[in-house]
Amino acid sequence: MNEEAKKKLLRMIPHALYILTSRSDGKTTASTVSWVTQASFKPPMVAVGLKKDSNTFEVVKKAQSFALNILGSDQKDLAQKFFKHVEPEGNRMAGEAFQDSPVLKHPIFPKTAGFVECKVVGSLEKGDHAVVLAEILEAECGPLEGPLLLSTTGWHYGG
Ligand SMILES: Cc1cc2nc3c(=O)[nH]c(=O)nc-3n(C[C@H](O)[C@H](O)[C@H](O)COP(=O)(O)O)c2cc1C
Repeated sequence: MNEEAKKKLLRMIPHALYILTSRSDGKTTASTVSWVTQASFKPPMVAVGLKKDSNTFEVVKKAQSFALNILGSDQKDLAQKFFKHVEPEGNRMAGEAFQDSPVLKHPIFPKTAGFVECKVVGSLEKGDHAVVLAEILEAECGPLEGPLLLSTTGWHYGG
């Protein structure tokens, strides 16, 4: 394997940034993720790559659902707050107020480009990340213009 070529080419796959949230058995999680793609029109589905040893994957596995907060194009600061594990304090995480999503009651940050609520329909755990396939049950636009493209941040995840 040509490692350098693999890294360079895989990093050409475009990604945006999202805050994935979930809640189960009294545990709440919020994590910045980039490996997200639409995976079906009917029903509407997304596929998300989730690190298998993360707290987020553990909570999503139990909840069998999650919300994706779609970040606005200028929300790099918000994305940065959820690169590591954050415990909720009341209705805030990392100082950011959240409310419950209407259908699945996962945390939603109101000032973003919007959110989708997703029910897990399957997952494939072959690598260090699980590929989680989920159907969108609800969607709502927020006040900001998205997306926040990974390529504009100077960060990398992949390669
Ligand atoms: C730029 C960037 C993109 C990331 N994308 C993902 C991703 O797509 N999937 C994932 O599981 N983790 C991703 N992470 C790592 C998570 O943000 C991190 O593992 C998580 O917040 C850890 O918290 P947790 O243990 O509470 O889940 C990314 C990190 C960075 C810096």
